[in-house]
Amino acid sequence: MMEKINLKNFTILFVVLALSAPILWAHDGVKDPNVMKRMKLMSLMADNVKILGQMMKKQITFDADLALETLTKIGDLSKATPSVFEINTSDPKSEAKSIIWDQFDDFTKLSNQLSNSVVESSVLTYDDLRPALMQTAGACKACHSKYRE
Ligand code: HEC
Repeated sequence: MMEKINLKNFTILFVVLALSAPILWAHDGVKDPNVMKRMKLMSLMADNVKILGQMMKKQITFDADLALETLTKIGDLSKATPSVFEINTSDPKSEAKSIIWDQFDDFTKLSNQLSNSVVESSVLTYDDLRPALMQTAGACKACHSKYRE
């Protein structure tokens, strides 16, 4: 029994550490303010997805209002994504691929795809969480697999 509890705590700690890692380390030493800005926006994306993930894993109590608020924030962040990437700039710590600025229309389309998918998801019950999270994560991945190292 004791072991089980410890393992569970360990898992939670691991998930929290893994998800907050970009905030603690990846930004360290980034000098370009534009790169910093887009990394911070992306970290906020992760923070919000994390809330939905914690709710799905029942680490926090299901709350339809909080879920909606969180999805709305992800939607707002995705609408703001093209504007923080508009300036073609880099940093040794950046993971952004330079093809973003050759294909900015497509990049913008993928940002819109995320905001649209968020608008379409409604989370009224606990069972709605998983499909909403899967769809959101799919939209993150669609862009990352193309435009992030
Ligand atoms: C339209 C494209 C696009 C979408 C959509 C997108 N991302 Fe990103 N994301 C990027 C790019 C490009 C980078 C690399 C930025 C850099 O390092 O300069 C990145 C970086 C990140 C990082 C690392 C930030 C850091 O501190 O280095 C995290 C975390 C992240 N994204 C999470 C998410 C999550 C979660 C979602 C979905 C809810 C998402 N992203 C949706 C393009 C996107």
